[in-house]
Amino acid sequence: MQTDKPVSAGGRYREWTSLLLIAILCFSFIVYLILYSDTSDSMKTFNLFKNVQGHPIFVQLSGQSTLFPWKESVRELRKNSTKPLLTLFTSWLDTEDKFVVHNITSVNWLALRPFVVPIVFTNEAAVEKVYTRAGWLVLPVRIAAADGVPVLKYMYLDAKKKFESDFYTYANSDILFTDSLLDTLIEILKYNSASHNSAEENSTLQHHTLIIGRRTNVYNMTMKEGSSWSEVTNVAREKGELFRSDAEDYFITSSSYPWNDIPEVVIGRRAYDNWLVLNARKQKHKVIDATDTILAVHQTTKDGNYEGMKKKTKEHNHNLLVTLYKNIQYGLGATECAEYQTIRNTGNISIIFRRNLATYCRLG
Ligand SMILES: *[C@@H]1O[C@H](CO)[C@@H](O)[C@H](O)[C@H]1NC(C)=O
Ligand SMILES: *[C@@H]1O[C@H](CO)[C@@H](O)[C@H](O)[C@H]1NC(C)=O
Ligand SMILES: *[C@@H]1O[C@H](CO)[C@@H](O)[C@H](O)[C@H]1NC(C)=O
Ligand SMILES: *[C@@H]1O[C@H](CO)[C@@H](O)[C@H](O)[C@H]1NC(C)=O
Ligand SMILES: *[C@@H]1O[C@H](CO)[C@@H](O)[C@H](O)[C@H]1NC(C)=O
Repeated sequence: MQTDKPVSAGGRYREWTSLLLIAILCFSFIVYLILYSDTSDSMKTFNLFKNVQGHPIFVQLSGQSTLFPWKESVRELRKNSTKPLLTLFTSWLDTEDKFVVHNITSVNWLALRPFVVPIVFTNEAAVEKVYTRAGWLVLPVRIAAADGVPVLKYMYLDAKKKFESDFYTYANSDILFTDSLLDTLIEILKYNSASHNSAEENSTLQHHTLIIGRRTNVYNMTMKEGSSWSEVTNVAREKGELFRSDAEDYFITSSSYPWNDIPEVVIGRRAYDNWLVLNARKQKHKVIDATDTILAVHQTTKDGNYEGMKKKTKEHNHNLLVTLYKNIQYGLGATECAEYQTIRNTGNISIIFRRNLATYCRLG
């Protein structure tokens, strides 16, 4: 090729090199801007997880440091981790009267990033659109029963396929958490990887973990009351009531948990919660009652605390479980029947083995 001004091979090489250099500089600058435009500490935690699926939710961390501050201890403990602590998912049907409830949940769960990945399972285009924009991950409901209610186990299996994390949990969509969730899970991780002084504790070390707890009901929660961890904590202390011990609203399981073997119970209908706990106890999984250290606030609306009982398919789970297992002693699946519990001791959380379980908790 001939031109008026022939450029030597070396000249062209230099030209390309400088173009490339400029491009790299521009790119780095943009990346720098994205990562550090907000120099708050919480922003930097993003770096811990930037390789996780490359999803943009890990970038949108600005503005949470005052309302949802990270404890130094949480950041420090997760420093060497390459994956989130928890994948947290739920599902609901879009209705006008639950807009505020889900909006408060949205803010609350998003504030747990990047240690927690929030997911909503939905087949509704409106929910997908709004929640994707808000920063949630949205996955389709693959398998439903009882007139379109998601089957619990497939949510765990799908979430696990999509994300690697230390724990996975379904939680009802009206439950709010605080960073007490993170503090507790970090202690349980440490506990699970340590060796222990008693034979009972040692013998369950290899098993799967299920963490459950009682919820605290708060009536007519407002957006203001849900706008920070300290607000949620205060409103729970002032207006909250610890709900009954045979109602479980979240089921945190270790990543190895054998969800494949769980029957096809659906969310939002009675019986499955106690059965899951009862089954885990029978299988000798490590079942931990975290009531004392995980604050789980239930946003109770005018529909009250027994919404599932008003549905046409309210006995779906019970009917399914009875055909599989005949007599089911649901009482053995209450929170206080868990063999382990978490306790808070002048600020520190520890996990203890319950030596004296109530007699009514004894497995037959
Ligand atoms: C993180 O890793 C470094 C180097 O491997 C180690 O010194 C430090 O103790 C670890 N921190 C935690 C919290 O595990
Ligand atoms: C929550 O409400 C705020 C204010 O009304 C709105 O801007 C935001 O999009 C809502 N978020 C969700 C997820 O509905
Ligand atoms: C528990 O396991 C640890 C390490 O595997 C061992 O050192 C310890 O002696 C065991 N304790 C009991 C009571 O078996
Ligand atoms: C909650 O609000 C409803 C109206 O929507 C009201 O009837 C009820 O008394 C309120 N409950 C409490 C405990 O404030
Ligand atoms: C709480 O944990 C810290 C750090 O591990 C320790 O220094 C302190 O003694 C503990 N407090 C209690 C009451 O156990």
